[in-house]
Amino acid sequence: MRHSLFAGGKRLRPILCLAAAEALGARSGELLAAACGLELIHTYSLVHDDLPAMDDAPLRRGAPTSHVVFGEAVAILAGDALLTLGLSVLARHPEGGRHAAARLEVLVSVTQAIGSEGMIGGQVSDLEAERNSLKSPDLLSSIHEAKTGRLIRASATAGGRYAFASEDVLAKLDAYGRALGLAFQIKDDLLDVESDAETLGKRSGSDSAARKLTFPAVWGIDRSRQMLAEKTEEAITRAGSLPGAGRRLVELARFVEQRRA
Ligand code: IPE
Ligand code: IPE
Ligand code: MG
Ligand code: MG
Ligand code: MG
Repeated sequence: MRHSLFAGGKRLRPILCLAAAEALGARSGELLAAACGLELIHTYSLVHDDLPAMDDAPLRRGAPTSHVVFGEAVAILAGDALLTLGLSVLARHPEGGRHAAARLEVLVSVTQAIGSEGMIGGQVSDLEAERNSLKSPDLLSSIHEAKTGRLIRASATAGGRYAFASEDVLAKLDAYGRALGLAFQIKDDLLDVESDAETLGKRSGSDSAARKLTFPAVWGIDRSRQMLAEKTEEAITRAGSLPGAGRRLVELARFVEQRRA
């Protein structure tokens, strides 16, 4: 668990949660533990995504993957335990009666986001598309929104819930997170084509080697870059409708578009 969690990583999901809460005037210090719960869950998804039966990846966050170091059985169990601890952290944090309703709402939202209709469903479709050489653009967008987008969306709205946001503001955060989540996975697909293992901390070129259904595979590099820019602008516009014009959330969207790893 420590091997995968502390190898590094951008911490995008917890930062997004804290930035959304701060945009609505909450103090992020008391939300830090809950935000870490999101990172535990994300890290579990990476450990399992890298398994030999899935993407069979040797490198993650600049270190050999969990199954390479500890063997497949322990990697599966480390992923299980990261997920369980993440949910346990979200059940307990932020502490105190004031946040009791938000804790429950976030657990409902996050478990829906990572379950069979969210991340897991997206991962199943990702593997099916790879194995059956499916190439539909609609399927591609739905896979990306599910496998990556849903947890990113839930992280943005979690911050809103911890800041006692109204339903109207939560809907705006959700729309922002939806655009950002798709932008994030388009960029991930582009980096797999354009970058290298040294910079990424994970092996590049593996999507085309596995014949994955990705944005560059369906749309080509130039059109994918254009779609990334469109989704980034959409996220920025959505953030602009939030209190304080969502300044940090705008910065995060720019980061997602321009990131090199
Ligand atoms: C990688 O996520 C997996 C995807 C959902 C594309 P990140 O790019 O956020 O990985 P870390 O956390 O920075 O290692
Ligand atoms: C992984 O997508 C999505 C989840 C972990 C849920 P990818 O398979 O594209 O992620 P990387 O490229 O291995 O980081
Ligand atoms: Mg994968
Ligand atoms: Mg992968
Ligand atoms: Mg990828």
